[in-house]
Amino acid sequence: MATATGRGAFVVFEGGESVGKSTQAAWLAAHRGADLTFEPGGTRLGQELRRLLLGEAGIRLDARSEALLMAADRAQHVAESIRPALEAGRDVVCDRYIGSSLAYQGYGRGLDVGTVRTLSEVAAGGLWPDLILLLDMDPQRAHDRSAAGADRFEALDMGFHLRVRAGYLELAASDPERWAVLDADRPAVEVRVDIAALVADRLGWT
Ligand code: TYD
Repeated sequence: MATATGRGAFVVFEGGESVGKSTQAAWLAAHRGADLTFEPGGTRLGQELRRLLLGEAGIRLDARSEALLMAADRAQHVAESIRPALEAGRDVVCDRYIGSSLAYQGYGRGLDVGTVRTLSEVAAGGLWPDLILLLDMDPQRAHDRSAAGADRFEALDMGFHLRVRAGYLELAASDPERWAVLDADRPAVEVRVDIAALVADRLGWT
């Protein structure tokens, strides 16, 4: 449903690998009748970039190239899909967004977080989500319960994933009005109940 300004609301799911984000994002979008999308890869250009970013093309990426390709994916995604939907009054639920670049390319890869933020904000034309739901879990636990094969990111060492988690928690703590942290190390249905309560409280979604 449109907000008072007629613009839709923009909700993003963030978190480490295999924490159940995609399942919860799909549930929320269906529950709300919102558009469901994801990064990287939410557009045709994004599909091409995703192949490069997840290592399917076999090209080794420098951390800065990776950050710039994530930004290019985001720029196209916002311009082509997210912003037009919001302006048409539709709500949008997105699986990963700027927070992923800050956590992975910033805290994880060690690029300057302020620079990554600037890059993402330029790419997104300043569009920040109304609400960011961080599904938080110990990365070792998430790894142990996952049966997925490893892409370039999943194959990184545990130190990387621990930095990503700590980075996310720092981001959430520094902007509690935009971020909400949920304990994802629980049955999916329990996490879902908390998500429903949060979107009702923060956005009036019932
Ligand atoms: P994906 O298979 O979509 O992962 P998940 O199911 O965990 O969301 O792969 C996306 C990968 O890209 C994931 O490891 C996180 C990474 N990523 C970044 O490093 N920076 C970004 O800005 C985004 C959007 C994703």
